[in-house]
Amino acid sequence: MEVWSSPEFDEHEKVIFVADRETGLRAIIAIHDTTMGPAGGGCRMWPYETTQAALDDVLRLSRAMTYKLAFIGARYGGGKAVIIGDAHKDKSEALLRAMARAVDKLAGAMTISEDVGLTVDDLVTFNKETQHVVGLPGQSGDTSPPTAYGIFCGLKSCLRHGLGRESFDGVHVAIQGLGNVGFRLAERLVAAGARLTVADTVPDRVARAKVGLGAESVDADTIYDVKADIFAPCALGGAINDETVPRLRVKVVAGAANNQLHRDRHAEALHERGILYAPDYVINGGGAINASQEKFAYDEARIRGEIEAIAGKLNTIFERAAKEGKSPLSVANRMAKEILSRA
Ligand code: NAI
Repeated sequence: MEVWSSPEFDEHEKVIFVADRETGLRAIIAIHDTTMGPAGGGCRMWPYETTQAALDDVLRLSRAMTYKLAFIGARYGGGKAVIIGDAHKDKSEALLRAMARAVDKLAGAMTISEDVGLTVDDLVTFNKETQHVVGLPGQSGDTSPPTAYGIFCGLKSCLRHGLGRESFDGVHVAIQGLGNVGFRLAERLVAAGARLTVADTVPDRVARAKVGLGAESVDADTIYDVKADIFAPCALGGAINDETVPRLRVKVVAGAANNQLHRDRHAEALHERGILYAPDYVINGGGAINASQEKFAYDEARIRGEIEAIAGKLNTIFERAAKEGKSPLSVANRMAKEILSRA
């Protein structure tokens, strides 16, 4: 297995492999950069086929957290955790508690929140073993609504820079994934006048969007081929890859999924095709803005303002990218590194 020489390693400060004999827990905790503060990031549970796949995922996700948290000026650095396993079959209280003990041993160097495969109830279980958890019920709460709101705000910037429009009226958005974030985003878009084509691997979710939101639907495999104004990847990472970039028939790619680009070079591929890409870690930062303030002076009105400011950040990125003839991702990566070097 490649660790130091993995293309995703990118000078991580710490990579911790966790194993628990009693529960069979296999997990990896990655701490990328603590310039802004101790690391914060979600814990994902996923049935990775290989340890290398789990390692590559956690490394890419934790680096994105560094950039996401730098952009929002949070008092956390970038980290992420993955549990290798199927959340539907392998999750148990004992396994989650073993994971939480591993986080607790880091004595505050890593604070975890929810990610794919885990729920708020699982955070309550974590909290039995460690206080280094955010997103608990009764505190800053579910990250999905602020994430969806941030994407909606960010899409206004995409409208202007990618479509030359100021309103969602009649704008056609293809949404991949109608989960916690995707469905909420769909509701906001329809309320603002957009029309939707949606896909999800869970038929009930598609049916709900058709009945409740008047959306059209396509099979999960064909969402990339839909001729629309915007493609919003709100399912899993890697949606934008060598196979899908040539199929896209949209002017904008912007959505919730973390690591929606299979590799950074796919940002250049989108750029070459004249498709405006909103860097995922900028547009999907609403939940992180909310959660990162849970342990500090939590002020709902200020947080709302910070989420709405995602649009302004994207405006700056898109303007610089256009001026320099570069992809928005390369400009955003550079801006994040500048924030870190000033911190
Ligand atoms: P979720 O698990 O609630 O929703 C994902 C949805 O995608 C599910 O409905 C699932 O059935 C669907 N899906 C899976 N594979 C699919 C495929 N091939 N085609 C179409 N649909 C498919 O997850 P959630 O919370 O909505 O997050 C979505 C994405 O946004 C994830 O990548 C997550 O990492 C990212 N994200 C989520 C945040 C949050 O606050 N929940 C914050 C920032 C990023």
